[in-house]
Parts: sequence; structure tokens; C-alpha cells
Amino acid sequence: MIYAANFKTNHTRASTKAYMQALQEKLSAKKPEDHVYIFPPSTALDTFEGDFTIGTQNAYAAQNGAYTGEIGVEQLDEFGIKTILIGHSERREYMAETQAKVAEKFAFFKEQGFEIIYCIGEPLHIREKGFESVMQYLLAQFEGIDITYDNVIVAYEPIWAIGTGRSATVEEISSTHRALKKAINNKPLLYGGSAKPANILEIVSIAGVDGVLVGSASLDAESFSQMVLA
Ligand code: 13P
Repeated sequence: MIYAANFKTNHTRASTKAYMQALQEKLSAKKPEDHVYIFPPSTALDTFEGDFTIGTQNAYAAQNGAYTGEIGVEQLDEFGIKTILIGHSERREYMAETQAKVAEKFAFFKEQGFEIIYCIGEPLHIREKGFESVMQYLLAQFEGIDITYDNVIVAYEPIWAIGTGRSATVEEISSTHRALKKAINNKPLLYGGSAKPANILEIVSIAGVDGVLVGSASLDAESFSQMVLA
């Protein structure tokens, strides 16, 4: 299983350092086949020793250059970071990343050999229209994306389940993952949206779920490690 923690705009450089130390102690009990990823905010990126992979929540599709406020491959290389989240709904929505922009970023980081966690997800009004509309919406988020890329993990995160405390139901996750798995040639597929210690066992037991991408419940090292060790 894959357990990925997306801190979003939470934690500082100091608190991230303390988190990594606390987490590493807990992870000594982790199953060797389980893989943990941590996506701290950009200011907290660093080289951390431990049984996990550090990734960046975002980066600009350039080595370096005149892109005020952004970081590029050169800044990630300093810390040996070769893993990136692309397409998160918060970036699509608040940072106005269009599908074309997302696809451009994907192509660039693929070219750089990065491991890409590619996020997709539908808003509530689409879910309410029914399964066919959901799949149509989700499949449109693969436009321009080379899903045959070896180093890709897909994360399905229904927007209405993110940060709401209300995860998708087992049936919703199960049917969506089953359909998505076919569309993505059986690439690893994570679920995200209010995953927490109380529902982790239920979620990772669903066929077609290869792990979770966790926001709120990952912010505390104790809560996140409970999920990894559950
Ligand atoms: P929550 O776990 O807070 O719902 O966030 C999920 C998410 O967006 C992870 O990328």
C-alpha cells in the first residue's frame, strides 16, 4: 500500500523537521512493502533521513529562470527530490491551472524522469448527476496526459470529500476505482478525501485501491502513522 501525506499550506520548516523525526520512529514498525510519501510545503523541503519519500506539492515546469514565486527543478535537485504532485483540485481551482497547463507540467516532469502523483477528481454537482457524468468528467482530466508513463501513480480525490470529514462511500470508491483502473492500464491508484484512522482499514480493503493521499489526518505524525500501521 501507498500512504501519502499532503501537508498543503500547513506546517513550518521547524514543525516539519519534528514531524519527520517522530514519524521515522513510528515507521520502524511499518511493513517493508508499504511505501510512505510526504509532501511538505516548499519552504520545508529538505533532505530527511527515513523510510519515506519526500515530494514536492508543486513546481514550475522549468529548470530555473524568471518565474517569480515559483521553484523549478534546480531547487528540487538540491534536496534530491524527484517526486511531484500534479493536478490537485486545489491548484486547478484556486491557482486556475487548466487541463492544458496541467498536461504541460506533466509532460515536463515526465521528461525529467520524475515520479508523478497525478490527481483527478469531480465536484459535487457532477457526482450528483450520476456515475456516467463522473466518469466522463474524470476521463477528461487525462487529456494530454501520457498515462503509459512508467513512473505515474494516479490519485482519485472527489472534491466534495476533501477536507469535509465526509469520505466517499465504499460503493462510490469501489465503482469509480474499478472503472478508472481500466482507463489507466492498471497503474497504482490512490484514494483521497477525508481518509483518516477511523476509515483507513475500510478504504484500503476496497479492490482497486492501492493506497491513500491524506490531507488533514496526515498533519499529525501520530494520526498518520496510525493509518500507515493500521
Ligand atoms: P483531506 O484528507 O483533508 O480530505 O485532503 C485530501 C487531499 O486533498 C489530499 O491531497
